[in-house]
Amino acid sequence: MPDSWDDVYNKELNNFSDHGDVGEVWFGEESIFRIIRWLRYNYNGSKEDLIIDLGCGNGMMLVELAREGYQHLVGLDYSKQAIKLASSIISKQEMDSVVSFKECDLLSEKLESSAYSVALDKGTYDAISLSPIQVKEKCSLYIKKVHDIVKPNGLFIITTCNWTDKEIISQFSEYFGLHSVIPTPEFKFAGKVGKLVSCIVLQRIN
Ligand SMILES: C[S@@+](CC[C@H](N)C(=O)[O-])C[C@H]1O[C@@H](n2cnc3c(N)ncnc32)[C@H](O)[C@@H]1O
Repeated sequence: MPDSWDDVYNKELNNFSDHGDVGEVWFGEESIFRIIRWLRYNYNGSKEDLIIDLGCGNGMMLVELAREGYQHLVGLDYSKQAIKLASSIISKQEMDSVVSFKECDLLSEKLESSAYSVALDKGTYDAISLSPIQVKEKCSLYIKKVHDIVKPNGLFIITTCNWTDKEIISQFSEYFGLHSVIPTPEFKFAGKVGKLVSCIVLQRIN
């Protein structure tokens, strides 16, 4: 993980202004479409539901959710440059009426409790898990924060390359139960099956 997300997104912001390149989508574009497809066939809520992308980066997840017809989307990131890039992309797509942004540190900001029907995370818990200091404390704070902002019975959909399905289910088990595992590509090595990326849907239970 980079030392400074602002540096990363500053470069991407320049590329976007110069060439219209939206920059890196973590885990590739397929990681967005597998969530969009899953929601299309499995989500029982409405397109009016409030959905937040935690650590939205360039906001491409929000673009695809808006294309899918979701009407109330929020992108949260603590990198000023990421929010600048994501809002420029959203404006270019003329999606400002359905997407808003919060520039804040998820771990320290007080957010609205039980507000979101769905919270998404693609690579953000991984970034927090790889913090150089106080990792355990930060991870446990993150889990509490997600619990606080998601509605009772709401969903938390996480894509991770740092934790296995079992580890995620266990770490979030105080507040969330397993809803679904969204299939991701598998590989076989020495007779064992593994995955490079996991995508797990948890449901708030407490
Ligand atoms: C690996 S990137 C993923 C970006 C995007 N979700 C994607 O899939 O392309 C992690 C993102 O989380 C953001 N982030 C990390 N820690 C954060 C925190 N405590 N509060 C808010 N955003 C955070 C970073 O600024 C970065 O944009």
